[in-house]
Amino acid sequence: MRALSGRSLSLEFRFGLLLALIALPVLTVTGLGAFYSVKERSRYYEEYSLAVAADLLRANVATYRTPQALAAGGRSLAADLLGRHQIGLVVRDASGASLVDAMEARIPEDIMAQSVSSGDPVEWKSGSSSYRILAAEAHLGNGSPVRLVLALNIGTPSAVQHAYQSVIIIIALTGGMLIVTLGLILMQRGLEPLRRMTAKTRDITASRLGDRLGIEDTPAELRELADGLNDMLQRLQDSFRRLDEFSSDLAHELRTPIANMLGQTEVALSRARSVEEYRAVLESNVEEFHRLSRMIQDMLFLAQADSSEKALDLEPVELRSQVDKVVEFYEPLLDEKGIRVLRNGSAEVKANRLLAQRAIANLLSNAVRHAPEGSTLDISIAPSEPGWIALKVVNPGRGIAVDDMPWIFQRFFRGRGADETGGKTGEGWGLGLAIVKAIMEMHGGRVTAESAPDGMTCFTLYFPEAVAATG
Ligand SMILES: Nc1ncnc2c1ncn2[C@@H]1O[C@H](COP(=O)(O)OP(=O)(O)OP(=O)(O)O)[C@@H](O)[C@H]1O
Ligand SMILES: [Mg+2]
Repeated sequence: MRALSGRSLSLEFRFGLLLALIALPVLTVTGLGAFYSVKERSRYYEEYSLAVAADLLRANVATYRTPQALAAGGRSLAADLLGRHQIGLVVRDASGASLVDAMEARIPEDIMAQSVSSGDPVEWKSGSSSYRILAAEAHLGNGSPVRLVLALNIGTPSAVQHAYQSVIIIIALTGGMLIVTLGLILMQRGLEPLRRMTAKTRDITASRLGDRLGIEDTPAELRELADGLNDMLQRLQDSFRRLDEFSSDLAHELRTPIANMLGQTEVALSRARSVEEYRAVLESNVEEFHRLSRMIQDMLFLAQADSSEKALDLEPVELRSQVDKVVEFYEPLLDEKGIRVLRNGSAEVKANRLLAQRAIANLLSNAVRHAPEGSTLDISIAPSEPGWIALKVVNPGRGIAVDDMPWIFQRFFRGRGADETGGKTGEGWGLGLAIVKAIMEMHGGRVTAESAPDGMTCFTLYFPEAVAATG
């Protein structure tokens, strides 16, 4: 049943049906038109030959001087007319007496009277035959009037009609079939690019996501579909690539710390150690485990951000108080390095509070790590383009190398000198800015970085402004 339901009918079947639905009535109407025009034409010729015959007869009748002469000689003329041209003839004198009668059928008086009064031929049906009848006046040689009645046998109309009908049906059916067949052949050719496209998509597997559907010889209607499919392939390929990078990054980054811990632990176990020595190894391991677990959490966050399509719960967030909270959290570290933090401006933005805090914290942690001891950081909040609020975090320091600039937002990217500046904050994984970027994208915003060598480094977060609630 399903194969026949309206939705799943093949295009070819629909097209064929459509052609048949168009071709049959069109051909039938054309055939009927031809039939009626032929019928009209033959009627004209029939009337014309009757008129010619009447004229000839008039001239002929005038050569007979008396009714008697006509009755004697006219018979053979009438028989000739009837035999050769299927025209029956009756000639009557003024009193109505028949002088010549060569008529196969008895024509009723009223039919004759009809033709007399109109002067035109009348059609009359008798049994299975039909006649066209013309009555005309003529004069004998002596001037006395006679009436001519001519009847042309026009055959059996129903037989003629039947013959035409079957011709029309045959033309409509064969013509229709021809049109449908030719249409289907053309359609099959037209659908060839679609078939090629289908075959091509079947060939594309996870390992061949780089393949694209060719659009050079694709018709315009299919080009859009091919473009759409190619875009989809591009997105799939990107996702696969990200997944690939993600797992290889993860494996690569886990290898070194785990190898280090393994080596350290094996060395410690290779001979008897003092309690202090064991403690030192365990403490170092704990520190490393903390780092690893932080990294795994960060990676999980990025993986979720990568794959999640769901919209964030955005609420009006007072940015300044979030900055204050983050700075408060970093207070001990700031005190330790003797770093001051200047804060300027405030604004309400549409954001997820915890994620905004996390982005600010990641920038602040970088700024603290890279700023020299005793320096000053600058955090400012101000409107930028209409509808957007810019939060800038500026720190002095050695800056970011120009070569590093394009990479700093990539996962696991650590700039040159990152290890030296690691210091007390612990060596980073290079995930902080990737997370900031992911968070800003989740907000529909963005993050930018500027850095002057041996000058100021400035990161800017662009948040959508919270629209003031209108009464
Ligand atoms: N304020 C800054 N000043 C100078 N360089 C910076 C600054 N912020 C980031 N960078 C450079 O960008 C790199 C990437 O920063 P990111 O925050 O992603 O990683 P990280 O701080 O090294 O590690 P993590 O944030 O995961 O602890 C850093 O290694 C550093 O080289
Ligand atoms: Mg960082």
